[in-house]
Amino acid sequence: MDIIGVGYLGFETAKLEEWRDYGTGVLGWQVADNVDPDGLHFKLDERRSRFSFWPGEIDRLAYVGWEAVGRQEFLAALDTFDLEGVPYERGDAELAARRGVREVARFKDPVGFQHELFYGQKFAPDSFLPSRPHSGFVTAERGMCHLVVITPEYTDALEDFLTRIMGFRWYGSGAGKGRTGFFRSKLNDRTSHDIAYGHGPGMRGIQHVGLYLKAMRDVGQTYDRVQQREIPMMMTLGQHTQDPHLSFYHYSPSGFAIESIWEMRPWVPELFEPNPETLSAWGHQLVGPILGPSVKKISELGEAAA
Ligand SMILES: [Fe+2]
Repeated sequence: MDIIGVGYLGFETAKLEEWRDYGTGVLGWQVADNVDPDGLHFKLDERRSRFSFWPGEIDRLAYVGWEAVGRQEFLAALDTFDLEGVPYERGDAELAARRGVREVARFKDPVGFQHELFYGQKFAPDSFLPSRPHSGFVTAERGMCHLVVITPEYTDALEDFLTRIMGFRWYGSGAGKGRTGFFRSKLNDRTSHDIAYGHGPGMRGIQHVGLYLKAMRDVGQTYDRVQQREIPMMMTLGQHTQDPHLSFYHYSPSGFAIESIWEMRPWVPELFEPNPETLSAWGHQLVGPILGPSVKKISELGEAAA
């Protein structure tokens, strides 16, 4: 499938007002006020919105929006789902309007996470006004973030779905313990992974979201605000072994971590499968739980868990 990367993310949260304050005051996001007023939406760039938060009782990831290049690629992807017998639902005009896209389809992966495929999200050039001094986010050519989810079952069917049907590139297992897989979309040649699934028996949820900031100063100024507000950190400043990333991790109001990343040099596709000795070359000292409160026991999630 001709997918660029993650185009948007949707969450449910019981902490909408906390998110409004944190998203603007700490991360520098812009509240998008021209989107569905039932939710809270943030702009990170010229697109209408990248992060949507909907009212809910349990803080959780609601959907991952994957961006197809355009209409032809979107339709070809649906043909692939038809051929492979993957159930999906074409979004109606109302859902497309809510997402601010031309067309959208909804489907689940084999371990139950909700995904969406879309193309043609509304945009307006030079329309991003950060809520504090900020150079902006690297989003355009490779998706707007990466994310790591924890799944109670990590199956061969999951890897087959991601690689053969979605057309993602298998990147590796990372340096962590247990079964973890990192994947990037077919057209992403700028970052090592768009999504990773980690096996957490009996657990489900989102572990972290990685945001690419345009300047090192933005990482530092985010760090300052995290310190000023005494927001708990997950990992201190450090440099990953397998990516040219300077980053640190702190917990968002929903309990998953935000990794604020500055790329020290352009990433180049790997020549061989990386098998790093350690997660990081320096730093990234773990100072909080690796699985924050956003990763929950299945029993805490109820029926609609995804
Ligand atoms: Fe990350």
